[in-house]
Amino acid sequence: MKFFVDTAEVAEIKDLAASGLLDGVTTNPSLILKSGRPMLEVIKEICAIVPGPVSAETVATNHAKMLEEGRKLAKLAKNIAVKVPLTPDGLKTCKVLSSEGTMVNVTLCFSAAQALLAAKAGATFISPFVGRLDDIGQDGMHLIDEIMAIYRQYPHFKTEVLVASVRHTQHVVQAAKMGAHVATVPPNVLRQCFKHVLTDNGLKAFLDDWAKTGQSIL
Ligand code: E4P
Repeated sequence: MKFFVDTAEVAEIKDLAASGLLDGVTTNPSLILKSGRPMLEVIKEICAIVPGPVSAETVATNHAKMLEEGRKLAKLAKNIAVKVPLTPDGLKTCKVLSSEGTMVNVTLCFSAAQALLAAKAGATFISPFVGRLDDIGQDGMHLIDEIMAIYRQYPHFKTEVLVASVRHTQHVVQAAKMGAHVATVPPNVLRQCFKHVLTDNGLKAFLDDWAKTGQSIL
């Protein structure tokens, strides 16, 4: 499974990319606002740090304008994935951009029917928002299960399931168990994936004992 980080904070991205475990980045208008930086500038910087797909979201709601925005974003770097919303105009734009060889991430997916349409429109990624479904009392991960089951029936679909709106490490684990292709994870959740109290305690005990031996490896 690929790990993307869900942030527009360049310092966080640099830090996590240094782990060698980062496969891509997703941003959205809210994350750009949070960064406090001009979108085009920040996206270009991110693309230079992470060689994998970097999602940059369009904000127009009509097809013509969205296509113009998408083409402009796609020119920023080779690894841009243009994000379009799961609307009729968004899917129309997805189809055109995909046919031009641009990666497209269809965002704001909340149903299996929507995911089916995105695959038919040639999306590179479909982004079902699991956390936001959980937030309204629905089961976000059930949606991932449904989409994976549908996509498996049609091997010619090339769309990758990008689990978005991840809130905790269990979302990541469940996504992996279901065979989702990608999880886009906020930096704090990605860091939590490394952690276990027994790892910390065990390491401390080994290092304490090693110090008592008086030896050195180097
Ligand atoms: C990523 O592509 C999505 O925009 C993001 O995961 C949404 O997450 P949120 O529900 O925490 O805002």
